[in-house]
Parts: sequence; structure tokens; C-alpha cells
Amino acid sequence: MVKRIPQALALLCLLAGRCVMAGEVEVLHWWTSGGEARAMAELKKTMQAQGHSWKDFAVAGGGGDNAMTVLKSRVIAGNPPAAAQIKGPAIQEWATEGVLANLDATAKAEKWDNLLPPVVANGMKYRGSYVAAPVNVHRVNWIWANAAVLKKAGVAAMPKTWDEFFAAADKIRKAGLIPLAHGGQNWQDLTVFESVVLGVGGPKFYQDALVKLDPTALNSPTMAKSLETFRRLKAYTDPAAPGRDWNLATALLIQNKAAFQIMGDWAKGEFSAAGKLPGKDYLCAAAPGSTNAYTFNLDSFVMFKLKSAGAQQAQADLAAALMGTTFQQTFNLSKGSIPVRLGMDMGKFDDCAKLSARDFAASGRSGTLVPSISHGMAVKPAIEGAIKDAVSQFWNNDKISVADGVKSIAKAAVTQ
Ligand code: BGC
Repeated sequence: MVKRIPQALALLCLLAGRCVMAGEVEVLHWWTSGGEARAMAELKKTMQAQGHSWKDFAVAGGGGDNAMTVLKSRVIAGNPPAAAQIKGPAIQEWATEGVLANLDATAKAEKWDNLLPPVVANGMKYRGSYVAAPVNVHRVNWIWANAAVLKKAGVAAMPKTWDEFFAAADKIRKAGLIPLAHGGQNWQDLTVFESVVLGVGGPKFYQDALVKLDPTALNSPTMAKSLETFRRLKAYTDPAAPGRDWNLATALLIQNKAAFQIMGDWAKGEFSAAGKLPGKDYLCAAAPGSTNAYTFNLDSFVMFKLKSAGAQQAQADLAAALMGTTFQQTFNLSKGSIPVRLGMDMGKFDDCAKLSARDFAASGRSGTLVPSISHGMAVKPAIEGAIKDAVSQFWNNDKISVADGVKSIAKAAVTQ
């Protein structure tokens, strides 16, 4: 049994040669923007308060593609971190490799089966055992707006349809401001595209095309209409968008330079970190045409099999902390997401988070809750990557016709 001690006492213990040091916990993640780092600091604080030493393994790059590349090389070299931010079907792929630690002891002691919606719990398990701990629910189908910019341009309300969006965007352009803040990475393109597909085709179509990868849906006129709408958006972005990070696109709203951003609610973490208030400085609404639907994105952590007892204890403590009520509240208040743990008090959360919580529950009941393809929830990583590339090529090259765009996405969906 490892006796855990506060860090300040570690040296004394070492000198006295009596107590066993608490473990070091090295955690791989891609939470490097202002809001993300603020949320991650909560986890570091929690672990340090339990006497463990925290080793940050942050790999910049929204959406996590860079982080996954670095993680693979560490694991192949036989030197995995204690924990890593892994989610969706990728959890199963890593578990198949036999490198993940079993979290059942913690899950049982903490009663995770009673604290998680079954659909979430199932995604955290491999062959019936927990191999991942979830931290939050992010909604992806959001549109964010700068309230002052809308007012200046004479836009009275958040757009509920794509037609309303384009009418508002024209007014904003006339007022000399950027209608749509966008960045320049393929995952950002796919994030916007999946919201367009949801708004144009509805949740059943989204499910058929982007989750089941049904060839009829993928080759349908609705897919063509989605690509047409997606391409129209580009004219409302600014010329500096290519190469821009997502949080710098959010910054354009924060600085009163742009009106809208279509992005998951980690963008809210940026507004909060900048001291901006929902309903006053910025507005949130479901992306046009998707009011009754919800694209979910769950962040979770896996633990890698490690030998030392101290490290294993640190991993068990980390898993318990991730699902604990204190962390679920403090972390999600900064992150922009909502707690994944059932029965949490939402009193301290803002109106956007409350709307997210209500819509998450309602869409679960009505069958309009769908997994986000751009954030690793819907399909295997290889297929997601191929679709991401096809969508991004279409976005970046105006010479690709809509018909060819449809064909290349359908082709990417059969990648092995
Ligand atoms: C993650 C979020 C993160 C966002 C941008 C998403 O895939 O789920 O936690 O904030 O990428 O980096």
C-alpha cells in the first residue's frame, strides 16, 4: 500500500527514508488555448493536492491530431505517459492493442455505472471493463456571435436557418466587419461542415451519411446541397483565415472584429477566460437549422499500463478525480462544456451551458442526439481522417465541383 504525502513533505520523507513517495502523473493532452489551459490547471491542482507530481505533456493543435501522432510514437517506443486524452472509437482501438490499464476497481468504488448515462459508460468500456474516464460533454453544433457587432450591423436576432445566416452575413459585410471567423485547419473545416450537414439534412440524414456512412446518403442531393451551402460560407470569411488556430478565430469575436463563429463550446472557454459574459458580450445558439439536434463530443482519458506502484496509485487517483463532483464542476465551468456525471448541480453554470444540458437530455429522448464526426465520436480515426481531408480539399480549392466533392467524400468513407 502506497502512503501518499504532500509534495512539500516528499524531501523530508526521502531523507528520513521512511515513506513512499506519491506517483508522478504524466498527462498527454492538447489543451493549450487560454480557456483550455485554465480548465486543465484545475486537474493539475487536484492531483498536486493529493501529493502527486504533475508532468504536463501538452501537444498544441486543436482537435488533437498532432497529440495523437506524438502519442503513437511514445507508445511504440515503449514509453507511454501515465494518461492521455483519447476519445470515441479510438478508445477501442487503443484497448485492442492491450496497452490500456483496467479502471474497474476505481469505477466500482466510485459507482460510475450509476453516475453515467449508459451510452457514455459503454463507450468508456472495452469487453465490459472500464478503460477510460470521461470528463465532460461538449456540444459541437453551436453558432457564437459578438452582440455589439450584430447590433452595429443591424442584425436583430441569431440566425435560425441558413437563409437567415446569409442575410445577416451580408449586413455584417456591409458594416465593414468579418461575418464569419474561421481558421485554417482541416478539423475546423469539418467542424463547420458537420453543422451544415446537420442543419441542411437534419439529424436522421446526418446519422445516415456521417455515422453509418450509408452510400445512398453520401451520394444524395442533400449531400450536394450541404456542400453548396458550405462553399457559400467561405465568401464570408476573411483572407487571413488560412493557417489560423481556432482560438484566434474566437479572438476575432472577442476583439469586436467578427460577428459569428461556428465552433464547439470550447469557444465559450475562450470568452470566459477573456472575462466576456454570455447574453451580454456574446450570444450562443444552435447552429442554423439544428435547434432540436445535438452533436456531442465527450472528452475522456485513458491510462496506460505502468509498473510502479506509485504510478498506479496516481492513475487510480486521477481516474477518481476526473469523475469527482468538485472537478466536474470547476473544470467544466472553465472548459465551456457541461459535466458528464449525472445529477450535478447546474446552479453555477451560465445560460449557454444550461441550454446545452437541456438540449442534451431532450435530444437523447427524441433520437436527435448524434456523435460529432469531426471530434472523433462517430467513425474510426482512419475514416475520419480521410473525410476530413476530402472536406478540407473542397473548402480550399474552389475548382473542385460540388459533384466531385460529393464523390471524394463518399470515396473517403470506404477507407480501411
Ligand atoms: C476537444 C476539446 C478541445 C477542442 C479544441 C476537441 O476535439 O474535444 O476538448 O477543446 O478539440 O482543441
